Amino acid sequence: MTSALFSPLRLADLNLPNRIVVSPMCQYSADDGVASEWHMTHLGMLANCGAGLVVVEATHVERFGRITHGCLGLYSDACEAALERIVGHCRHIGGAKLGIQLSHAGRKASAQRPWEGGKALPTGEDPWPTIAPSAIPFGPGWHTPRAMTEEDMARVRVAFVDAAKRAVRVGFDAVELHLAHGYLLHGFVSPISNTRDDDWGGSLEGRMRFPLEVARAVRGVVPRGTPFGARLTGSDWLEGGLTVADAVALAKALKEAGLDYVDVSSGGVSTTGQASVPRDPGYNVPIAERVRREAAIATRVVGMIANPKQAEVIVANGQADMVALARAFLDDPHWAWHAAQALGGEVTYPPQYQRAEAAIWPGAALRM
Ligand SMILES: Cc1cc2nc3c(=O)[nH]c(=O)nc-3n(C[C@H](O)[C@H](O)[C@H](O)COP(=O)(O)O)c2cc1C
Repeated sequence: MTSALFSPLRLADLNLPNRIVVSPMCQYSADDGVASEWHMTHLGMLANCGAGLVVVEATHVERFGRITHGCLGLYSDACEAALERIVGHCRHIGGAKLGIQLSHAGRKASAQRPWEGGKALPTGEDPWPTIAPSAIPFGPGWHTPRAMTEEDMARVRVAFVDAAKRAVRVGFDAVELHLAHGYLLHGFVSPISNTRDDDWGGSLEGRMRFPLEVARAVRGVVPRGTPFGARLTGSDWLEGGLTVADAVALAKALKEAGLDYVDVSSGGVSTTGQASVPRDPGYNVPIAERVRREAAIATRVVGMIANPKQAEVIVANGQADMVALARAFLDDPHWAWHAAQALGGEVTYPPQYQRAEAAIWPGAALRM
């Protein structure tokens, strides 16, 4: 029986050998947005992980749009040159297709690295002013952002376009927008963080307006053959916040803006009154299934997917076209090799590691 998870998928002109995606994961290891040797090692390792697509962490379109001092950026020639070197390295040693997530952290910017506290940067740790649709902090103790003016919106839109041009020049196979987890673009869509009463707020249509403008502008510079997608929020998990119906509406609007796929995540819009984000296996799957069915767009799902059979069922049942895994790949960078072994799928091993292939190494059966 052939595995659905290990069946190929075509997105725009990109052929993916399977439906497994390494979810974007911040490494907080850049210097003024410039990728480091850590990225070279981390992404170099993932270039051989067996996933069809590896999406590079949230990469910020302006310096003040970074979450932390260590976050990756794509706002300078130095940022671009470093990523070019890393992408060249990954292509030289591995086969994974490479995507990049473009982001602006909005009111969640100017924060400490998680292992340094993960809170708003205090005076003395070089904090910076933050921007958001409305002047509402992310939670108690967080910076109060300045409500964005139309000039701010124009500047940020241009920053997204410029970063996307750099991403295309670097040669990424896919480009996606971060429209989830409470960062700037999601911040506009959610009524929790956007209380504007002008044309950029109010109804869902008004709240989606700025993110859609960004999406259309970026689509304009990402070649049609290069898949362009967005990670969106399936639910704010909060009374008065975004719901599945809103996610469907947003996915439809993004499809109309020319996007090729969406990724369904959820949560992260506020620390205030936050109902806890579910932790049960595949908690975003029912949302993704509905988005896929009603918006009729290629859909990826993320969140507590860790078991090969679980991933297989999601794709085989048509609940999503792709699954993204984050922590499972930190835990086991060869997760996809082991999934292939469990499901009878095929992955390409680098020649240096071929002696560990399940077909020729009897020890593989002992490990299962
Ligand atoms: C270390 C780490 C960094 C993350 N950074 C990002 C990021 O840059 N962009 C993003 O959209 N999500 C980020 N996430 C969220 C993951 O992509 C994913 O949505 C989340 O961990 C749930 O998936 P999982 O259960 O497979 O880990 C991060 C998660 C982890 C663990």
